[in-house]
Amino acid sequence: MNIAIAGYGRMGKKIEMVCREKGLTVVSTIDMMAQEAKYSEINAESLSGVDVVIDFTYPDAALENISKYVHHGVDVIMGTTGWFDKMEEVTAMVGDTIGFLWSGNFSTGVNIYFRIVRAASKLFDRFPDYDPMLYEIHHNQKKDSPSGTAEMIGAILLEEIGRKNRGVTEKLDRQIAEDEIHFASMRGGHYHGTHSVQFDSPVDTIEIKHTARNREGFARGAVDAAQWLHGKKGLFSIDDYIDSIMG
Ligand SMILES: NC(=O)c1ccc[n+]([C@@H]2O[C@H](COP(=O)([O-])OP(=O)(O)OC[C@H]3O[C@@H](n4cnc5c(N)ncnc54)[C@H](O)[C@@H]3O)[C@@H](O)[C@H]2O)c1
Repeated sequence: MNIAIAGYGRMGKKIEMVCREKGLTVVSTIDMMAQEAKYSEINAESLSGVDVVIDFTYPDAALENISKYVHHGVDVIMGTTGWFDKMEEVTAMVGDTIGFLWSGNFSTGVNIYFRIVRAASKLFDRFPDYDPMLYEIHHNQKKDSPSGTAEMIGAILLEEIGRKNRGVTEKLDRQIAEDEIHFASMRGGHYHGTHSVQFDSPVDTIEIKHTARNREGFARGAVDAAQWLHGKKGLFSIDDYIDSIMG
């Protein structure tokens, strides 16, 4: 399997390292800015002989990049975020022309964590004494809050716990309402991403926590997903890949 890496930034470089470790062939690195990339543009030349492109570029480039991959018939692992509101457009564009797998978080651990939180939430839905809440911590360079991952965890809590209808991300200067869940964000230091869900009762606390040690988890998940996608056609999410492992 010949791999191209589009976006030779922090993630692109980690992905190349993981491919090397796994003995996979990276035939092309593409970046419009990074001098050390082999190519500066996504085109016929940089995609020549490529089976799967792993894209971690910029949100505003995502749609144009996808249309180029479709045009050149190259399968895609889409790690770039910020285009999910265009999912319908992308689904129509991809059809069954290429294999396309996307995720807002490629870390295998986080995807397992999502499933643990969902299972726990289903349990706590039956035990109203346990009040759910969520906090996340990220490094001091992160530009947004809450994290996309926290939003995904929050959505799971709200889907599964019937007595909760709304997530509150802002600072609370009032008592929290009974049907609200507080999602808090902290910024500082070098955290690569810590997410913690707590279910708190009058007598105890159950905490489910995921801590990323580095960005490697995202890269490993993306490369594993590329190997899974090879030879498939159509649009897939990371859930399809995790489901295939679950059997
Ligand atoms: N899905 C996940 O698991 C996951 C994990 C981490 C980061 N991300 C996302 O991946 C993206 C990249 O993150 P990063 O930390 O590597 O960013 P980065 O800024 O370090 O690297 C992005 C690189 O892409 C290049 N680039 C942008 N548009 C391009 C284009 N059209 N053609 C060629 N090169 C282009 C830039 O020059 C830059 O070098 C972001 O959207 C981020 O949110 C996703």
